[in-house]
Amino acid sequence: MTDNLSVEQRGLRESATYDRTTIAAIQRAAETGIYDIRGWGAKRKLPHFDDLLFLGASMSRYPLEGYRERCDTDVVLGGRNAKYPLHLSTPVTIAGMSFGALSAGAKEALGRGASEVGTSTTTGDGGMTPEERGQSKHLVYQYLPSRYGMNPDDLRKADAIEVVLGQGAKPGGGGMLLGQKISERVAGMRTLPQGIDQRSACRHPDWTGPDDLAIKINELREITDWEKPIYVKVGASRTYYDVKLAVHSGADVVVVDGMQGGTAATQEVFIEHVGIPTLAAIPQAVQALQKLGVHREVQLIVSGGIRNGADAAKAMALGADAVAIGTAALIALGDNDPRYAEEYEALGSAAGYYDDFQDGRDPAGISTQDPELSARFDPVLGGKRLANFLRVMTMEAQTIARACGKAHLQHLEPEDLVAITIEAAAMARVPMAGTNWIPGTGL
Ligand SMILES: Cc1cc2nc3c(=O)[nH]c(=O)nc-3n(C[C@H](O)[C@H](O)[C@H](O)COP(=O)(O)O)c2cc1C
Repeated sequence: MTDNLSVEQRGLRESATYDRTTIAAIQRAAETGIYDIRGWGAKRKLPHFDDLLFLGASMSRYPLEGYRERCDTDVVLGGRNAKYPLHLSTPVTIAGMSFGALSAGAKEALGRGASEVGTSTTTGDGGMTPEERGQSKHLVYQYLPSRYGMNPDDLRKADAIEVVLGQGAKPGGGGMLLGQKISERVAGMRTLPQGIDQRSACRHPDWTGPDDLAIKINELREITDWEKPIYVKVGASRTYYDVKLAVHSGADVVVVDGMQGGTAATQEVFIEHVGIPTLAAIPQAVQALQKLGVHREVQLIVSGGIRNGADAAKAMALGADAVAIGTAALIALGDNDPRYAEEYEALGSAAGYYDDFQDGRDPAGISTQDPELSARFDPVLGGKRLANFLRVMTMEAQTIARACGKAHLQHLEPEDLVAITIEAAAMARVPMAGTNWIPGTGL
């Protein structure tokens, strides 16, 4: 009788190659004949910030006193060419997420939360909403291949411009917004038909290479009277070369988004199999900036899987000037909240697993355009929650920096880090803990 025995007690063994998730994916594809699209970022385990540890000071280094000694967190972004660079109080910024992917209330809340702590937020593939502009002290305006919602007046209303060449979740791929989220307002802003699936371009229409980017950046500077910093955002893949080319093209700030980076809707196969981990991308980007002699003069913003102050501090120790968060910001707003557990289950998901941002049925009212669901979301409360989270992230990063003896987050350096896996040591180019071995460098 095996009736009351668990799977393990019956001696059954799950295949590592054909595990249950793989079997379900094959079955789903066989039933539907369509590939899986979802939001969120890579779910597979990848070398990440958790594989790095800080070497807190004790005797050979001198720590700073937790609550008494200063540890500054401010950062200036885009001073290379722009008349008005961004002066932020914390290096934790909000990544570009589109109105369309997110409800207008969620976009407003991102602006509110970011402004409360003196950081920036970013538009997305879908243009600038008045609510978002109104509530954002520092608003970065994305200039994307799709050009949805793009107009020169909004460029001038922005505080900085981000030319998006790619995203970590899908380097080489274009945007996607399914018909159920193309409401009258979203359609109006994007000049698209309502209710019809939209797939946007993977490259700019007037782009055949880096020379065109240089021309484009100059054009954007002229339109905005050389006032605004110009960022260039790339998905992490051939990062060393991409960062070099972005700098040569005139970028004031380079944004590198690693493969753990979130998305609103992309093919699952893309999310899990294209790009390189954030950890591997940072040293490549820093090396490119150093090679050109512009590290710190051209700022580096890193995103992709940044979840807390330790991740932010590690990215900065590896050479980033600032970080950007997407998924963690949505969670702070209330995404995947256990309060909606029953509703997630009714959608075939669960709180903590919900990634169907493409579906437009988000019970938390964040990744939806449904008027009833959106009405559940309170932008003021959401903004407060996000501000709290950003404050906590900043204080966590400060705590670590002080322990490493640093009076500014930007003083963190690779020397403060060790790795606990060989993969992370090789990618981040820091030694394995307790050794001076950095795999792959011969050091
Ligand atoms: C809901 C959602 C919508 C997004 N929309 C855009 C977009 O319009 N343009 C863009 O460049 N990136 C977009 N991204 C990617 C983010 O800008 C950022 O690169 C990514 O979320 C960072 O990784 P993280 O989510 O792990 O923090 C989106 C991400 C999410 C989660």
